[in-house]
Amino acid sequence: MRVPTALPILALVLIALPAAAPALDARAARGETIARTNCARCHAIGRIGASPLADAPPFRDLHRRYPVTDLAEALAEGITTGHPTMPEFRLDPDEAQALIAYLQSLER
Ligand code: HEC
Repeated sequence: MRVPTALPILALVLIALPAAAPALDARAARGETIARTNCARCHAIGRIGASPLADAPPFRDLHRRYPVTDLAEALAEGITTGHPTMPEFRLDPDEAQALIAYLQSLER
């Protein structure tokens, strides 16, 4: 019984794996749009360039301070930095995950 049930599952995994990568990229692309719309006027959001606001850390450097996945909660609950120049942002969990996927894409 084991082999006949395992085979279709294995086949499904093999079909699903290549499909998973573009889905991740689509999420990161959505995250980039969120970053460009909400964050780019202060933060450098790309792979190069300085932040428009000198105090705002470039997004590509955030992962050196902490794992960017740590930001999920902060982004969903309303990120405050203890710095009055950054307005409070609240993203829905989907948007937060998209933004984090984008931040992770900058680490590669
Ligand atoms: C009006 C300018 C401004 C905008 C817009 C802005 N930020 Fe910031 N952000 C700052 C500044 C200034 C700091 C540095 C704060 C500090 O050092 O205390 C900062 C810091 C941060 C940090 C680092 C916090 C830490 O403690 O390490 C994160 C993460 C961050 N911002 C995320 C975002 C995200 C995500 C957006 C868009 C949704 C955004 N910021 C939009 C100005 C801005």
